[in-house]
Amino acid sequence: MRILDTLRSRFRRDRVSLQLDDIQALILRSRPEPYVGLHAMLHVEDAAGGRDLIARLARHIPSAADWTEDLTAWTGIAISHAGLQALGLPDDALASFPLAFREGMAARAHQLRDSGENAPDTWEPAYRDKTCHIALSIFAADKAALDAAVATAMGIHAASTGVRLIGTHEFGADEDAENPFGFRDSISQPTVAGAGVDPQPGQERAIAAGEFILGEASETGEPLVLPQPEVLGRNGSFVVLRKYDSRVGAFNDFLRAHAETPEDRHRLAAKMFGRWRSGAPLILAPDGEDAPLGADGARNNDFDYADDAEGLICPHAAHARRMNPRGSPTTILADENIHRIIRRSSTFGPKWTPDVTADQDGDDQRGLFFIFISARAFDTIEFLQQEWINRGNFLDLGEERDPIVGLHSEPGQFTIPARPVRRRVSGVTTFNRLRGGEYLFMPSLSALHWIGKGDWVA
Ligand code: HEM
Repeated sequence: MRILDTLRSRFRRDRVSLQLDDIQALILRSRPEPYVGLHAMLHVEDAAGGRDLIARLARHIPSAADWTEDLTAWTGIAISHAGLQALGLPDDALASFPLAFREGMAARAHQLRDSGENAPDTWEPAYRDKTCHIALSIFAADKAALDAAVATAMGIHAASTGVRLIGTHEFGADEDAENPFGFRDSISQPTVAGAGVDPQPGQERAIAAGEFILGEASETGEPLVLPQPEVLGRNGSFVVLRKYDSRVGAFNDFLRAHAETPEDRHRLAAKMFGRWRSGAPLILAPDGEDAPLGADGARNNDFDYADDAEGLICPHAAHARRMNPRGSPTTILADENIHRIIRRSSTFGPKWTPDVTADQDGDDQRGLFFIFISARAFDTIEFLQQEWINRGNFLDLGEERDPIVGLHSEPGQFTIPARPVRRRVSGVTTFNRLRGGEYLFMPSLSALHWIGKGDWVA
């Protein structure tokens, strides 16, 4: 059953407490399956021209009012701190944002552990020197709907002055919704309290809306600090954008080196991700692939790791288990519920096949725009990069890193608990290399209109 079908049947308008008609659709709306889309980046050279572009684009940004109903295409818009500055926002508004956002992703490389081959001086030019001001993401269910939405956005840009298009990048996947490694992704998403859909029986509880929507109460009971003035901050959120080059050939070679048969390679890959390629979680399908389970949005996320404390079914070091330990014992105290993220990642490049080898990697062939939304996005990504991705201490695994997204300046290892002895697979390299990224603010619709009007300008 498609994600949207399960959400639609469970949506209850009387359970809505959020101002859905002021929140950008992209925050709550799931990716279609199949999906196509385009990311575009803009650089503002003239503040008035930039504000005019925002005012005209704002009319084409749908709200989350009908987020569980079908829509053929939608555009989301997010702005970096350098972008807000270039749009001429008042100094006190600019100063009211979190420090990490004001500095931008490249300047936070140390906190993000983005060094060596992931360091900002190796990034694509679009992400360097605070070049990325405005990021547009257009998601669509088919090519015709995408073309129409792109024509609208590009028409608005063409008619504007003082805004440069830095680049565009197409993405998409077929109905299997596979990422470059052949795994279905964007399955596990938090339930946002007050959005109208309650968790299904057996699923984890809803997360306080303030973890995702600025101005709402967070998991602590209080709202997070709101960017000012209120019309700018309320109902907005923050976005982390990281573009990865996926070294699918190196990953395939790694599997070939450590597993003899195609079945064993699938199993090793599943142990590294925590799910089978179809999306079926190892915990619910310990013996092998279960495609109907993987495709069933009502069942494929209904699990935790309580009965697998030793990691015999799903290794502690598996990517999905690290990123959401679901009650697993950890040695470093952290509240899982304040590190939940809404993922809106998008895949580009050819569909995965097992025969691709390392010499075919590179040159922007295959990859992923890793995108997530959270009201505390920057604290979360910096925590995840430091503790859960680029160390293994919280799992008693020393320096063992995430096998999928960790940065491996030296080849690392992956531990698979087993009886009588655990297996340690060596030779894990950086299977996803960072090509750039930015910290962004996703304003509410009223904030976009406020920016577009620029009433504060004398
Ligand atoms: C760059 C390449 C990446 C790939 C190929 C990838 C792939 C996957 C896959 C296949 C899943 C399991 C299916 C699902 O629930 O969607 C998953 C889950 C997840 N990933 Fe990633 N991921 C990547 C990067 C990241 C990064 C950089 C982060 C965090 C900073 C992250 C956070 C998560 C989270 C939170 C989950 C859900 C865990 C759960 O709730 O069970 N991923 N990823």
